[in-house]
Amino acid sequence: SRLVVVTGAASGIGAAVRRLLEERGDRVVGVDLAGTEVTADLATPEGRAAAVAGVLEASGGVVDGVVTCAGLSGASPALPHVNFSGSTDLVLGLRDALAASEAPRVVLVGSISATRPVDAALVEALLAGDVAAATAATKAALADGRPQQLYPSSKAALAQWARRTAVAPGWADAGIALNVVAPGVVLSPMTAALVEDPRMKQVMDAAVPMPLHGYSAPEDVARMIGFLVAAGTTHVTGQVLYVDGGAEATLRDPAH
Ligand code: NAI
Repeated sequence: SRLVVVTGAASGIGAAVRRLLEERGDRVVGVDLAGTEVTADLATPEGRAAAVAGVLEASGGVVDGVVTCAGLSGASPALPHVNFSGSTDLVLGLRDALAASEAPRVVLVGSISATRPVDAALVEALLAGDVAAATAATKAALADGRPQQLYPSSKAALAQWARRTAVAPGWADAGIALNVVAPGVVLSPMTAALVEDPRMKQVMDAAVPMPLHGYSAPEDVARMIGFLVAAGTTHVTGQVLYVDGGAEATLRDPAH
């Protein structure tokens, strides 16, 4: 059976991915702050190194899939570190273990919000792997009253990183497929308070229009992740796949 690492496996989309993979016979090694096989804080470089070490120990050095669902929303100073580096450092740290698999697949969870205005300095710092600069840009965004830019910046950087990395030496040429699944609004603990507040709900519905079936369940996103992480999905890489009820198509600049 295949061994798949799932971050954020204790809640929401990550928990739904775990259920789907285990039902089809895959072995899941979960990574989260609590309640998973590997306990680690993906907000810090030390925590990310500990997560990689824990996964390598639990897997014996061969990893067939990595799915990064751990993430934060809101105005937390840890947000860009968890959402971007918590995914990218884990995937980089597990590259050799992925390359040892016969059909390695990586799926990062992005967001429709990556299409919203970003903080260019923060995106650049994240892509450069410059933790100090990313921390400084995050502090500046919070101090300047731009907390709403943190989340789209982290997810836009993640999508850019995925496109570059997927076709960089050592990835596609090693048989590793790497894609992003970008949900619209998913009903999970992350959004529970937002959808219950009529004013927040109105803002969110304007920002993320979902004409096809409205808000999704974690399972709806998990099915796309399960498809991309499967051994039989051989030729998809470097893509951002929106599971967003038509939000991206609605918001997209018609000239592109
Ligand atoms: P959730 O809040 O239910 O689950 C997130 C998980 O990440 C939790 O188990 C949490 O403990 C873990 N986590 C947070 N910080 C961590 C840290 N420092 N170290 C280790 N684990 C940590 O949220 P949900 O909705 O399942 O979100 C999963 C992913 O989907 C996130 O990346 C989120 O940004 C993304 N997403 C969610 C959407 C939504 O509407 N819920 C929409 C678009 C993207």
